[in-house]
Amino acid sequence: MVRLYTDDISIGYGERLVVKNLSISIPDHKITTIIGSNGCGKSTLLKAISRIIPHQSGAVYLDGKDIVKENTKVLARKMAILPQTPEGAAGLTVGELVSYGRFPYQKGFGRLTKKDYEVIEWALDVTGTKDYKHKSVDALSGGQRQRVWIAMALAQETDIILLDEPTTYLDMAHQLEVLELLKKLNAEQGRTIVMVLHEINQAARFSDYIIALKDGNIVKAGECDEVINREVLKKVFHIDAQIGRDPRWDKPVCITYNLIKGEKENEENLDINNYSAYQCAGF
Ligand SMILES: Nc1ncnc2c1ncn2[C@@H]1O[C@H](COP(=O)(O)OP(=O)(O)O)[C@@H](O)[C@H]1O
Ligand SMILES: [Mg+2]
Repeated sequence: MVRLYTDDISIGYGERLVVKNLSISIPDHKITTIIGSNGCGKSTLLKAISRIIPHQSGAVYLDGKDIVKENTKVLARKMAILPQTPEGAAGLTVGELVSYGRFPYQKGFGRLTKKDYEVIEWALDVTGTKDYKHKSVDALSGGQRQRVWIAMALAQETDIILLDEPTTYLDMAHQLEVLELLKKLNAEQGRTIVMVLHEINQAARFSDYIIALKDGNIVKAGECDEVINREVLKKVFHIDAQIGRDPRWDKPVCITYNLIKGEKENEENLDINNYSAYQCAGF
């Protein structure tokens, strides 16, 4: 039995259900990536899994316990989340924000211990944000700020880390740095990573398991080759993709793709609105 899974969960806003009766299992000690078009419910799902928003029916289980019944600090010592648009850093320095990641470990008046300071330093170090420690978060660029939020999530020292589009705002090199850091945390410390990515070639390269969503339902979940293929991408993104092999990583790679125009998803109907391989990101 895996540590984290949803059982027949439905999530929505007001009357409208975004995710209906979804059951997914997150493989332990693996990197799982959720892909899907804008508005299909990726963030909604991650927020419900991490108890940021309530779900309507069904349940999320972590270590055999319904998360709704779990103590907040216990939950926060097991699972950290970097939301898609994190908020609440106004007026804080980088060091202060990252220190908030230690809240699940604080007792009484919340003074930081030697261990807390060590973990904060480590989190600043591995995310390359040490130099900004005394700067105001407001004064950072989007990319710098994103790495500081990641540092805060890491400072929480959880076995499970959820990240909603962690590469947003980052340039190509910093995107890779973040993904390689997550890979390292997974490989060396066995941490379970669940993230949302838009770049399917990065998803293929860095994930052990991919969940492709459409309208809050699973189109396909499995290993990279089972998900990053022409058929699944057609269903998920309504694109006609040419899939090759990345020689460096022996993973599927989207070389080029067309938008499929109209209802009929056949060759004749393909638009010549072509993109090159290196622009294959950000559907
Ligand atoms: N706070 C909210 N209130 C109402 N509707 C929302 C809210 N957040 C998201 N939605 C709607 O739920 C759907 C799924 O959104 P979201 O989970 O953010 O999609 P994704 O992350 O896949 O782009 C969208 O139609 C979106 O407009
Ligand atoms: Mg989202």
